[in-house]
Amino acid sequence: MHPEVKPDPAAPAPCVLGIETSCDETAVAIYRRGSGLLAHALFSQADLHAEFGGVVPELASRDHVRKLLPLLDTALRQAGLAPSQLDAIAYTAGPGLVGALLVGAATAVALGRSLQRPVVGVHHLEAHLLAPRLERQPPAYPFLALLVSGGHTMLVRVAGLGRYSVLGETLDDAAGEAFDKTARLLELPHASGAALAALAQQGDPQRYPLPRPLLGQQRLDFSFSGLKTAVRLTVEREAAQPGGAWRADLAASFQQAVVDVLVAKVRAALHASGLTRLVVAGGVGANVALRAALRAEAGREGWQLYYPRIEFCTDNGAMVALAGAERIAEAAPGAVIGVRARWPLSTLAPPAARPRD
Ligand code: KG4
Ligand code: ZN
Repeated sequence: MHPEVKPDPAAPAPCVLGIETSCDETAVAIYRRGSGLLAHALFSQADLHAEFGGVVPELASRDHVRKLLPLLDTALRQAGLAPSQLDAIAYTAGPGLVGALLVGAATAVALGRSLQRPVVGVHHLEAHLLAPRLERQPPAYPFLALLVSGGHTMLVRVAGLGRYSVLGETLDDAAGEAFDKTARLLELPHASGAALAALAQQGDPQRYPLPRPLLGQQRLDFSFSGLKTAVRLTVEREAAQPGGAWRADLAASFQQAVVDVLVAKVRAALHASGLTRLVVAGGVGANVALRAALRAEAGREGWQLYYPRIEFCTDNGAMVALAGAERIAEAAPGAVIGVRARWPLSTLAPPAARPRD
């Protein structure tokens, strides 16, 4: 069994290893509260899945098996630490691809057992929400978070660690998924949001009047599947025409439609909740057009805007190590061993609500 670790305010902050394997990034990081990030190493499987037009779960799991231990060695070397100097192990326990999650979980548990250290299973979305706390000037609670990733699009009121109220979420596709599907419809070699955003930079965002789903409505939910259908119909129409400039224009018009919807819903959520601090988390938070639009709006409205640095918007081990460290600081983790493919954020509770013994 793992030794129970009682938080001792006088003891030095524990050195926490974070492991992320929920989808197609294998990532390891080491974080200590007070000292900050000591190391982070990541391998993206994007090239591995490119020819299939989406993440192939079995290939993802196998590649995590291949890459995880070498990345662990890299991170330990970067931090100048021996494995025995790790005080706790955090891993992403869900939501995500079960096979991929199990690689991280099994590795974390094996390390925890052999080193006699506690192991904590981290919620992937909580890790994204807390990622801006890796930066020098982290947001104070409470804040509104726009969580926009490949699997989720949510507006969350964050009152503290584990104190989350979901104000709105997508009814169908996630924003990142819409970016990925549009990149595929435009036959980009890498069907990714980043590739679509790069193409959009050369295009005219006004050329195609695409729908802005649920824009005029009071509710804070999102819907992106109608937008994707409009893109598909436009592709079918334009592909018959000679010349290729329309691709960049369609990419830019699509991106503008998504940005308009996200900014409008953020504005409505901030007005409704009375909050003025906004955190943007998740892979789509790396989008330059979204950042520019939110910056302009924040300037007009007097919001304070917080992002993780670009490399910590997308999946990474640093946010997992940090989320683990925050949970450990509040309460000793039990011997959590498990993964969950589906795991609603709203089921999380603050650590203090858990029994300590
Ligand atoms: O947070 P993340 O790395 O993984 C999930 O937890 O889903 O987000 C990945 C998503 C993908 O859909 C990817 O296409 C999108 O974020 N993404 C972007 C950009 N960079 C990554 N979408 C738009 N613009 C970008 N620059
Ligand atoms: Zn993610």
